[in-house]
Amino acid sequence: MPATVIVGAQWGDEGKGKIVDLLARDSDLVCRYNGGPNAGHTIVADGETYKLKHIPSGILQGKECVIGAGCVVDPPVLIEELDGLASRGIETGLVRLSGNAHLVMPWHLAIDRASERRLGKLAIGTTKRGIGPCYADKAMRLGIRVQDILDPKILRQKIEVALTEKNLWLERVYGERPIELEGLVEQYEGYATRLRPMIADTSLLVDGALREGRRILFDGAHGTLLDLDHGTYPFVTSSPTVAAGAGVGIGIGPSRIDSVIGVAKSYVTRVGQGPFPSEIEGPDQERLRELGGEYGTVTGRERRCGWLDLVALRYAVRVNGIDRLALTKLDVLSHFSALPVCVRYRTRDRSETHDFPAHQSDFHAAKPVYEVLEGWNEPLDGCSSVAGLPDAARAYVEFVESELDVEVTLVGTGAERSSVLTRA
Ligand code: IMP
Repeated sequence: MPATVIVGAQWGDEGKGKIVDLLARDSDLVCRYNGGPNAGHTIVADGETYKLKHIPSGILQGKECVIGAGCVVDPPVLIEELDGLASRGIETGLVRLSGNAHLVMPWHLAIDRASERRLGKLAIGTTKRGIGPCYADKAMRLGIRVQDILDPKILRQKIEVALTEKNLWLERVYGERPIELEGLVEQYEGYATRLRPMIADTSLLVDGALREGRRILFDGAHGTLLDLDHGTYPFVTSSPTVAAGAGVGIGIGPSRIDSVIGVAKSYVTRVGQGPFPSEIEGPDQERLRELGGEYGTVTGRERRCGWLDLVALRYAVRVNGIDRLALTKLDVLSHFSALPVCVRYRTRDRSETHDFPAHQSDFHAAKPVYEVLEGWNEPLDGCSSVAGLPDAARAYVEFVESELDVEVTLVGTGAERSSVLTRA
């Protein structure tokens, strides 16, 4: 398919990086359309572990990579990431950065931290990378964009205007120290020198590539349930994570997208606060966390772990238009002899539904109704295709397909690049 969106179908951390890395082999261009350094993609390639925050994982396959207008970029983090890759022999001259992407500024980080602290028990549990405040300034039309660093006069002026207001917030609302203008302008002028060669009209670039029939992957950060409009608000991130965000975040029309691949873990994890109906109670939660190595890539926080939730996954299929699924980390379930799968929610009026609740309070009250599938109790290391999986593991995959009416085309069975099974 010439233009394919890869989207997380749960609360993020589904293993998209690895799927993008795999599919990038047969692609020409890989484009990230949303989010910033709050995302973390871990890819294990030839025994080496790479952790990427801003740059699409296609970079490891030597593919041209785009960071689109819908992204927010923290310059020192991006520069550190570029330097880290270059020091390991990865070609980074192929990264193109949209001039319309917004910059995460030091006041965004300070306000994110202070706001979470002030919310106390009501905190969202953000990654504290300044994401919400940065997107809020974008909507307020107070943001500073990548293109602004190209002109020192404009940069100084914009920082000055923003800082006057932000320092009032920091001092008067949050009781924090103000941020100095002088050092900051110089610091960002320095970043400009590094970023300048990467800045491009990425909408035009992608349009040209599509016209030439080049194959493009759109790499969605985070997951469906963290989407600002369609996720479990307010426990969401501040960007559009759903597949439709690809058109907006890159600057192409929706008719240009040919296919949407959803990536879901074979179970569910969530970081941060918010309701989570299939969250495991008891020692299996800890066991699943340890077996799956479920600790945040960006923050190192423990991820909350739950059984596969098909109500939420059905919702993800709907809001993204998913036509194929990749099911990751199936191997982690090899250690459980019985596998509960949430097939319906029991609602407040004690009826049962297959559909994801439209209102927050109904979702808060939803209880999982499980069907328990048989475990396979053996490692999946030797399997080379989905057909070659142990019977119970194949039945698990087929159960997901029949409940969602979507084909599972890829199955992850280990951390290595090579541990992704296809249907053949
Ligand atoms: P923020 O994106 O840092 O504002 O955090 C908002 C919510 O999204 C918090 O619950 C975070 O834990 C969650 N979040 C943001 N990015 C990711 C991610 O890449 N994986 C999982 N959760 C994320």
